[in-house]
Amino acid sequence: MSNGSEKIYVCATKNKHDLPANIIKQLREDCGDDKVVEIRSDLFNFKNGEQKPVINDSVRRKEIFLLWTIEEHVDTEILKLMFYMDALRRAGATPIRVVMPFFPYARQDKKKDREPISASMLARIYELIGADHSITTHLHNDAIEGFFFKQFDKVGTQKLFLGAIKTYWEKTYGEFNPSDWMLIFPDEGMAKQVRELSERIGAGGYGGFAKHRIRPNEVAKMEFFGSCEGKNVIIIDDMVDTGGTLAGAGKQLIELHGAKTVIAVATHGLLNGKAPQVLQESCFEKVFVTDSVHIPEEKKFDKLMTVSLAPMLAQVINKISKDESIHYENW
Ligand code: R5P
Repeated sequence: MSNGSEKIYVCATKNKHDLPANIIKQLREDCGDDKVVEIRSDLFNFKNGEQKPVINDSVRRKEIFLLWTIEEHVDTEILKLMFYMDALRRAGATPIRVVMPFFPYARQDKKKDREPISASMLARIYELIGADHSITTHLHNDAIEGFFFKQFDKVGTQKLFLGAIKTYWEKTYGEFNPSDWMLIFPDEGMAKQVRELSERIGAGGYGGFAKHRIRPNEVAKMEFFGSCEGKNVIIIDDMVDTGGTLAGAGKQLIELHGAKTVIAVATHGLLNGKAPQVLQESCFEKVFVTDSVHIPEEKKFDKLMTVSLAPMLAQVINKISKDESIHYENW
């Protein structure tokens, strides 16, 4: 399909998030201005909230990278994505490669009692409407990939975070050596990823928590397995929503298990409710997130460090456009 000399066509769903514009800017820097073509669109809203995107340029037989990000209301953005895909497909775009830095509803990936498996349902709907290829970053559960039938790629954020933590640490305190740090998972869902990362980077060890939730947004109990007496610790999660999971884990590590310094990392900074206050007042030295979702000014706090996904996603788009490997472990 692609031969590397073709143009790269990108189209971004409209909202206030600046990540799509930053990805396009980076792509232009990496590949040359004339190689990257932005497909223009408008988004109209009816008074009752209905959304109507209009694609302004021809996309017939064009491979389109559709950049989809979440600004605030997740369900509105999901519908917006569907309308964009429908418009692009009906206008002849093929294939449609959806770049979704954050995959919403990933926490609903299995059912208990009479519940939907929303993550699976959405994957099927996206593909039914037009997604020929879905590209995302840190997934809540790697098995979600199996909910998609068509081409699917995920890129990790671990190297990005490690680079950012190293830079911060060396600027503030001096040498950063992974073997001086323990990696901690805040719940069982992250256990495998954290163990593998710990082995890959030669961390000083790993450990983690078993989390008991009573209902969404409410954690009943967190049990720690491991030992971090006198150690520096990085807690790694896929997302931080209300901040309860991370702050609860951090507090225990410092107060009950003797950790020295605790840094929190979460790819998706949803930061809802009291999260900014909870995390600012927590024991964390810093809280690192990416810009996978829009973080408005009022959600920012002093301890928050945001690492942009733009350079990595630009590189991923460039590689895919040339049919090059984007092997997971490279990120
Ligand atoms: C849950 O299993 C996720 O991986 C996160 O730990 C969780 O969603 C974070 O939510 P909160 O910040 O509200 O505790």
